[in-house]
Amino acid sequence: MSISTVLSKNIGPIALAIWLISAGVLGWLFVNGTTTPSADSRTIVHLAPAERNFILAEMRQLLQAVHGVVTGMSETDQPRGHALAASAARSAGMKMAVDDNPGLILKLPLPMKQLGMSVHRDFDELADTILAGTTSQDVLQRLSAITTKCVTCHEMYQLE
Ligand code: HEC
Repeated sequence: MSISTVLSKNIGPIALAIWLISAGVLGWLFVNGTTTPSADSRTIVHLAPAERNFILAEMRQLLQAVHGVVTGMSETDQPRGHALAASAARSAGMKMAVDDNPGLILKLPLPMKQLGMSVHRDFDELADTILAGTTSQDVLQRLSAITTKCVTCHEMYQLE
């Protein structure tokens, strides 16, 4: 029997097997990402240089958002300050996450993706509550919950 006959007779099972293997590999990657343990008890996430630069640029934007919220909330002109704080928070909301490409997402371990997404969601909520005229105390509490996540993720992961 020629290869093509074998293939044509068994195309269903072969396709299923390939599909299962691909789904398995993709699923495994989705959960684990491309990682190895680091020397300082963090997990190293291995990325292409451009991907690492992309994430680090997002990180600097996150820091800028935190800075914008704190600066806005400290303004004496409250309406102006709150508007600035809300737009700073919004800049780090879910719309920041939509640019992330699928290949890069696969390389990140699941807990890292979850933490990252929850930070974007928190920033959107923070923007909403600032616009709704919440207290400075509430803004600080929400910001503290967000920075807890920054700290947690930085203690867990390193990019290479
Ligand atoms: C989901 C994980 C995660 C979250 C959440 C996270 N970071 Fe990061 N951040 C990282 C990783 C990983 C690095 C690279 C650390 C390394 O390689 O040593 C990093 C690096 C940075 C850097 C350095 C950027 C550079 O150019 O080198 C800054 C600044 C930063 N983060 C700010 C923040 C701030 C502010 C927050 C919270 C609002 C935050 N990050 C939340 C994972 C995260």
